[in-house]
Amino acid sequence: MSFEKKILCIGAGYVGGPTMAVIALKCPEYRVTLVDINEDKIEKWNSGKLPIYEPGMEEIVSKVRGINLFFSMDIKSGIKESDIIFVSVNTPTKTFGLGAGMASDLQYWEKTAQQILENSRSPKIIVEKSTLPVRTARAMERILKTNNNGAQFEVVSNPEFLAEGRAIQDLLKPDRVLIGSHRTESGLKAAEEIVKIYSHWVPKEKIITTNLWSSELSKLVANAFLAQRISSINSISALCEKTDADISEIAYAIGSDRRIGSKFLNAGVGFGGSCFKKDILNLAYIAESYGLREVAEYWKKVVEINDYQQERFVGNMIKAMFNTVVGKRIAIFGFAFKANTGDTRESPAKFIVRKLLEEKAILSITDPQALENARMDLDGVEGEINYEQDPYRAADGASAIVLVTEWDEFKTLNYEEIYKKMKKPALIFDGRNILDHQRLFKIGFNVFPIGKAPLTHF
Ligand code: NAD
Ligand code: UGA
Repeated sequence: MSFEKKILCIGAGYVGGPTMAVIALKCPEYRVTLVDINEDKIEKWNSGKLPIYEPGMEEIVSKVRGINLFFSMDIKSGIKESDIIFVSVNTPTKTFGLGAGMASDLQYWEKTAQQILENSRSPKIIVEKSTLPVRTARAMERILKTNNNGAQFEVVSNPEFLAEGRAIQDLLKPDRVLIGSHRTESGLKAAEEIVKIYSHWVPKEKIITTNLWSSELSKLVANAFLAQRISSINSISALCEKTDADISEIAYAIGSDRRIGSKFLNAGVGFGGSCFKKDILNLAYIAESYGLREVAEYWKKVVEINDYQQERFVGNMIKAMFNTVVGKRIAIFGFAFKANTGDTRESPAKFIVRKLLEEKAILSITDPQALENARMDLDGVEGEINYEQDPYRAADGASAIVLVTEWDEFKTLNYEEIYKKMKKPALIFDGRNILDHQRLFKIGFNVFPIGKAPLTHF
């Protein structure tokens, strides 16, 4: 079968995988290939068990795989044959050298640029899908300009705004698609090619085109604003616990103001995930590198409050458990950084678990999707940890349950049954405020929500 255009995506992870699956589904006249250096991942993409869990994704992949969606390790041929290359490799925080702990580690990105340079024989549009420091496209262009085999490149920015656990939904019905390009004739033409892809299913008015730097920077700013809302409400949850105000009532009261809006106001154990922290720190680093110290300090506070919230949560727990958890069994409900994903990157559960192990508690961790990752994350960590797929078994004989991830499954458990098999007094720490606290209290639990007065029998 002949295809109108060939699209390649380098990096078959949480972003590359679902995004290309949806493009393949919506654009049958395009051939879409995903490549990755990770052999295991590519094998899984080609198998019945995909490497990541996203509701609705399996169905889409099974419709288009082998028809116009392909997964491969052959990066060189992929580059040679493609007209449009999305780059969706990881851009973690640098852990070494200049900017360690704040700046983006662009080694994977740079390697990709080199590979594109070496293997291109025809003109290509390079699309930045990864989240990158503002002005990265300039560096990419500099590398690509050293090419002397006739290939011409146009770099376009098209950051991704999907959230894990709802990636397919977000991709099918995005709030907006952002495409940034140089405002030159060739830049605008390249941007138009990318607009054409999304126009297959996204209404034109939702496709925003800007200059390259606005697009790159908008991605960092969007994540910073989202994370800032969470730190704002979490900071107020601490004040609620001192004053008997109720954080859910406050979130509703302020969220009813349309200027503020009701979303992203759930207080909890702090934000996790691979991006919020890294992107804010990167934003702060960029600000600092331009001499904007106050701007950098302002955004760093969002991360500081997030750390504070996690420490506060564990501190409150230990205090409520009579200042010692030594030898006590504690069930950890949820290890993923949020519901509907198996991803545990920067999950608050990791911090909480490590702290409780340091205090010599005995832990049983349960999570519908993240146990495999939990095992890998905690490999070599000192202390006693059991992994239980079944939450009832995890809570059996425990003195306390700590709910860390807001899985729906945890809302509908039979807490009467669970209570019977727990050690008394039985405590429950609802780190996401998703449970029916009054009902749990009536069953006999001592309930410790976030940003609300505890309900205790002692
Ligand atoms: P990921 O780690 O899941 O996937 C990245 C993939 O790139 C990995 O499979 C890795 O093996 C591969 N890779 C690295 N170097 C390569 C190379 N030279 N050639 C081929 N493959 C290579 O990461 P992710 O979560 O998909 O994030 C990718 C980018 O998208 C990051 O910049 C991130 O900030 C951004 N982003 C992520 C999300 C999210 O929800 N995870 C959302 C929006 C944006
Ligand atoms: C986030 C953004 O929502 C996406 O738009 C962005 O594309 C993505 O980061 C990225 O760049 O990686 P994601 O991290 O998948 O998506 O998940 P979110 O739903 O944003 O949740 C992030 C964290 O905040 C989770 O730990 C979640 O539990 C927490 N959260 C979220 C709260 O504590 N309270 C809330 O009200 C909302």
